[in-house]
Amino acid sequence: MTETLKKLIEILQDGKFHSGEQIGKSLNITRSAIWKLMKQLSTRGLEIESVTNKGYRMSEPLILLEKEKILSLLSQKSIAQLDELDVLESIPSTNDYLLDPSKVKSKKTIACLAECQTRGKGRRGRTWVSPFAKNIYLSLLWHFKEDPSALAGLSLAIAISIIEALEMYGITQTLGVKWPNDLYCNDHKLAGILIELSGEVYDTCSAVIGLGLNVYMPKTYQDGISQPFTHLQALSTEKIDRNKIASLLLHGLIQTILVFEREGFEPFRKRWSKYDLTLGKPVSVITAGHTFEGIGRGIDQNGLFLLEDKTGTIKSFSSAEVSIRFNQT
Ligand code: BTN
Repeated sequence: MTETLKKLIEILQDGKFHSGEQIGKSLNITRSAIWKLMKQLSTRGLEIESVTNKGYRMSEPLILLEKEKILSLLSQKSIAQLDELDVLESIPSTNDYLLDPSKVKSKKTIACLAECQTRGKGRRGRTWVSPFAKNIYLSLLWHFKEDPSALAGLSLAIAISIIEALEMYGITQTLGVKWPNDLYCNDHKLAGILIELSGEVYDTCSAVIGLGLNVYMPKTYQDGISQPFTHLQALSTEKIDRNKIASLLLHGLIQTILVFEREGFEPFRKRWSKYDLTLGKPVSVITAGHTFEGIGRGIDQNGLFLLEDKTGTIKSFSSAEVSIRFNQT
């Protein structure tokens, strides 16, 4: 994005009208140059209203992500863990960006945020719809000293950390998790997590932990998304500050991983039941070849999902290629 376009967004981001003359003076550009910039904004999916005698305004006010702001809001103990923070405009996927072999081999701890993803990835091969400057797309590359078997339960711990970060931000509505790591508010999906492991796996492993959080996701995107969704802005009367949210999320992720590395899943197990949306509810567990029906009975010490079937037998499931659906009560 050019500096001029960035400045134009900064002028318009308050959601108020700004006349063409005023914009032209501030940016030192002509009316036709303004018009071209407005077109560039609409190709990024940002709606600009243009009204005679009033000027231009952005239909949805927004705050662009800024690396310096995020770092200034991030705790020192989390900054100390990070080698690099990349805040990018548009990339295919923040997870893929960090899975690049050169980044993995560097053994650096890197966090990446993007304003937009052109090939955002969800779990089970799904697409994660990622429009420009609306939401949070955040990934963290972390190098674990143990092999992947030690990471069972990590994705559940991460889900808890995200809810707690949102609570810390001031979200007071009840948030919950559908195992293993889908965040919901009132039956609508708010966020999802995709953890991908990288490279040769011997006695250590590198993981990319990707988080997609809806912040201002317009309803118009519903057609491309397979389930009902909500966004943070619907849960708050104040304008959501994506930079503050990003720093709290990053802090939550880093501190959770540190606890997980030291103590494993155990400290998160009790906290899970507070947010578990499937506990005591009729659900279906869908695997590649079969659907199992029963009642959700929480998780075991490793974070495996427990389902009680009609006969009272408890079956456990790991998260690889399994999904859970709520059934009617
Ligand atoms: C899900 O299916 O619920 C998981 C969604 C994960 C989306 C995030 S957005 C940031 C990171 N980059 C990706 O391509 N996917 C994850």
